[in-house]
Amino acid sequence: SNHIEQKLSPLALYYFPSITSTNDIAREYLKTSDQPLLVVAEHQTGGRGRRGRQWASCYAHNLLFTYGVPRFSAMQGLEGLSLLVGLTLVDVVNASLGVDAKVKWPNDVLINGAKLAGVLVEIQGDIGGDYSLIIGVGLNVNESPSVGDREVTSLMKNFGRAINRSELLVAFVDQLRRNINLFCLEGFSSFSGRWNEMDAYRGCQVQVEQGGEILVGLSRGVNANGVLDIEVEGELRSVHGGEVSLRAV
Ligand code: BTN
Repeated sequence: SNHIEQKLSPLALYYFPSITSTNDIAREYLKTSDQPLLVVAEHQTGGRGRRGRQWASCYAHNLLFTYGVPRFSAMQGLEGLSLLVGLTLVDVVNASLGVDAKVKWPNDVLINGAKLAGVLVEIQGDIGGDYSLIIGVGLNVNESPSVGDREVTSLMKNFGRAINRSELLVAFVDQLRRNINLFCLEGFSSFSGRWNEMDAYRGCQVQVEQGGEILVGLSRGVNANGVLDIEVEGELRSVHGGEVSLRAV
């Protein structure tokens, strides 16, 4: 299909000192652009997280960006794709900085249980037909702004000194584009084993709220579609991404 990039084609790059949200700007550009794009900001006035949460900024200290793919039409579920973004972050920061980042289902990145990065995947257009993919990433590089009472961390805290953000951004986006190509060809199944290896909560007692129901059980990792299995009283229950949250209990 047409969205598979044989070679990585040039990216349209948009840079803003301050902006509402890189996801919102990417959405506007994707309405008219037919080129993959990257929107980067030093600060966001309306940064958003999953489940209606806010994403705080710390001017020029972190990475706030959105990778946009026009005319995406993967047959594969998008559930796996958002897991893939978190896994790619983990692999890139661990390989380039020697830190010990892990994934948390569905698409958070943690170091020692504290939040290092978050991913917000959205679409523009019609999920049944052609749509554009909006992949927003917030990565705490040299600062860890806190929102609410969640424990947060930064790469600098774990690495010991300040980190060059552009090099990290290039390494990540490059790897993400390769992984998305593979995802388009083979789906999430090529990544589920690796995802489970890097899962911060695998085998742990967790609590998940799904559609008003609270499930408590042992986390058994994700299947080839990115669906999380939780063992509740000896039975496996499937949990889908989207508007759900998981915590250790
Ligand atoms: C989460 O953990 O809930 C997801 C956080 C995603 C934050 C990033 S920052 C860049 C992009 N623009 C936004 O408004 N949100 C995402």
